[in-house]
Amino acid sequence: GAPVEVDISKLQPGQMMTVEWRGKPVWIINRTKEMLDSLKKTDGEVSDPNSDKPMQPEYAKNETRSIKPEILVAVGICTHLGCSPSDKFKTGPESGVSADWPGGFLCPCHGSTFDLAGRVYKSKPAPDNLEIPPHKYLADTKILIG
Ligand code: FES
Repeated sequence: GAPVEVDISKLQPGQMMTVEWRGKPVWIINRTKEMLDSLKKTDGEVSDPNSDKPMQPEYAKNETRSIKPEILVAVGICTHLGCSPSDKFKTGPESGVSADWPGGFLCPCHGSTFDLAGRVYKSKPAPDNLEIPPHKYLADTKILIG
């Protein structure tokens, strides 16, 4: 498949967009400082906090799993059996998400949860963190995926 060029200039802090790459959904999330801070709390609760497992690109081997700290680029497919997790960023009555949940993703199929860096929580069926696709910045707000 061809690489996909994405303009993220309109992606506000706290927002997420989805683009398609090789038939897969790729999520791009502009994380707020608060969202990034939540990763410190989830460090101890995820199974591979620094993305040490081999299949992840070098630039994903850090706490934020990203080239730029605030921008997450991840394949939105569960690493268990390939369902699509849903985003559960927000708390509050309308979201159905509890206030002590720092935000992240929930896979509806077998209940795997991922934090805001796509890191899988311990003791969940998904074996790995969400895949970070190969990507690079062509300009400050332009990403090439693939
Ligand atoms: Fe996501 Fe099984 S496919 S938990």
